[in-house]
This record gives sequence, C-alpha cells and structure tokens, in this order.
Amino acid sequence: MSVSTISLAVSLLRAGRLVGIPTETVYGLAADATNSAAVRRIFAAKGRPGTNPLIVHVPDAAVARRYAANWPEAASRLAEAFWPGPLTIILPKAPAIVSEVTAGLGTVGLRVPAHALTLELLREFDGPLAAPSANRSTRISPTTARHVRDELGDAVDLILDGGACTIGIESTVLDLCGDRPRILRPGGLSQAEIEQIVGPVEYGFAHTDASRPAASPGQQLVHYAPTTPAFRFLSTQKPGMLAHAGAAGGAAAVLALTSVELPGGRLVQMPVDPLAYARTLYHTLRELDSADLRAIYVELPPDEPQWMAVHDRLRRATVLLPAE
Ligand code: TXA
Ligand code: MG
Repeated sequence: MSVSTISLAVSLLRAGRLVGIPTETVYGLAADATNSAAVRRIFAAKGRPGTNPLIVHVPDAAVARRYAANWPEAASRLAEAFWPGPLTIILPKAPAIVSEVTAGLGTVGLRVPAHALTLELLREFDGPLAAPSANRSTRISPTTARHVRDELGDAVDLILDGGACTIGIESTVLDLCGDRPRILRPGGLSQAEIEQIVGPVEYGFAHTDASRPAASPGQQLVHYAPTTPAFRFLSTQKPGMLAHAGAAGGAAAVLALTSVELPGGRLVQMPVDPLAYARTLYHTLRELDSADLRAIYVELPPDEPQWMAVHDRLRRATVLLPAE
C-alpha cells in the first residue's frame, strides 16, 4: 500500500468519512472515535442498532490508556502479552470517546490490531478509530477487501487492501470492569491463553449487573448469518441431515469435519484444526451463500474448549437441525 493511500485515508478520517481497514481478525469499518457525526455514519452504513457499542482501535497500550478512565494492572499485563493481537478489553471510558461509540455505556472496548497497514494508519491519524466489523448488521463479517466492497458498496469512502485476514474471526472481548475478568465474546484469543496471564476468568454475561442494558451488547442471537437457510448438526445426526438435504431437493452444501457423502450436493471438507477452521469459516459461508443453494449444513466440531469461538459463531449463524 502506497504512502499516499495512507495519507488519503487519514484525510478522509479527519473529514469524518469512513474507511475500510484490514486487521488480523476481520475487516473493520473505521471512523474518528472523537467525532459523533462520523460515528453515526458507521451505524447508518451498517444498519446497526445504536444500542450496540463499537470497539476503539489504537496503535499501542500507551495510547489505549488515554481512553480508559482507569487502567488496572491486569490491563498492563494483558496488553504486554497479547497486543497487537485479537484481544479487546473493556474498561471505564475516558470523556474523549464520544457516547455514540459506546452506545451510552460508561465503558469502552479497546484493541490494538495486529496488522502493519492499520497500525501505520493509526499512528498517522494520531487518534482513536471506532471500527466494528465492516459487514451489514447481522451478516457475515468480511475477511478480504473485496468482501467489504460487496457488503457496503459506496457507503464506505475508501478501503485499504491488506490482503486476507489471518485469524478470520473477531477478537475476544474481555470485560475488566468486574471483580474477575469476564469473556463477553469468545474470539481469536483463547480463554486458556488469557488465564495464563490473569488467572481464572468468567465466561458469558453477568445478568446481575443492573447498570447494563438488558439487551446485552454483541450477544444478538442472529449474527454472522448467511441469507441461505443454514443448519448445524451433530456428527451423530448425519442420517437426519441427509434426509433433510434430500427433502430440500438437492442444491445443498455441507461443511463437513468427518466423512460425509452428499450425492448431488456440494461437499466442503473443513480443516480439523480450530485455528485453520476459523480462518476459512466466514469466507466459505460467504461463497456458499452466493451459490444459489437451498440450504447449507454445518457439521459441529467437538465440544472442546479450543472450539469455543467457532461454536459461538455457528450457534448464531445457523439453526440446530431438528432431531428426527
Ligand atoms: O476483531 C474485532 O473485534 C473486529 C475488528 C474490526 O477489530 N471488530 C468487531 O467489532 O468485531 P464489532 O462491532 O463487530 O463487535 C464489537 C463487539 C460487540 O459484541 C460489542 O457489543 C462489544 O464488542 N463491545 C464493544 N464495546 C463494548 C462495551 N463497552 N461493553 C461491552 N461490549 C462491548
Ligand atoms: Mg460484527
């Protein structure tokens, strides 16, 4: 990417416009996090409800500290261990971040993405960038610059092409505001990796905290979803899946992990390694979604911790195949 393209991106961002940015997880749709009008453009372009807060991207931990009202020791240790990388930490917010970014919450999600081009942009821009994934709300997150164009068209003013995302699913969101760190969204960094640095973490939503809106941010059930009807099934449900696919009249695809035969249908053998699986999942779903199919079937990975983030995305992208 030429220097002039970074300069152009910086001028657009300073003018309150939107820029598609590559990260190691998924592509983001960035705007100046200190400019309310610019941030409102993000919500409009995505069709995103104003109640769902955005992640703020910064070039390093020193800059992140400026946008948090307090900075616990755990944040320092996590930043040291995992930034730049697929970890977003939630902390009480500093006033410079406009309330549109955080959906009125008193907290902010901060992250340093591991992508050379975007780090360069962040340093040149010299300010915080709010950036959700660059897809239309509830749809599959983009993992290439092309996907961003397909999703958002002219609603995005410039897209920086940084190649295909190496992780392929979103960052892990970790709340550091409670007594114990809590994973709000599993993602590119595993619970085990986080626990090595800060000890035991909780998982899921703290419903006891009355200060949070009832509709938990980012926990919408339908999310990351193809428009083609998509079903997940257990390996033990293969016969049921085949019957269901047959009833759908052919034109079906299966994302398989074990051996599956789908006469007349499209079979995609998925990687058995969780990281490799995550890297290809959105890309594969997006491609199948444009293939004019009647249904997509996804074989569920084993119920093991290293598959947590993939399970989370499949739960929201698909409907469980009914038992016969
Ligand atoms: O990997 C990623 O995190 C990507 C790239 C572009 O950095 N971004 C991303 O943003 O996935 P988005 O907006 O699609 O997801 C942000 C998630 C949502 O689940 C949102 O609710 C949660 O982070 N979040 C953001 N700020 C929060 C806050 N203050 N409290 C609780 N959850 C928050
Ligand atoms: Mg998203």
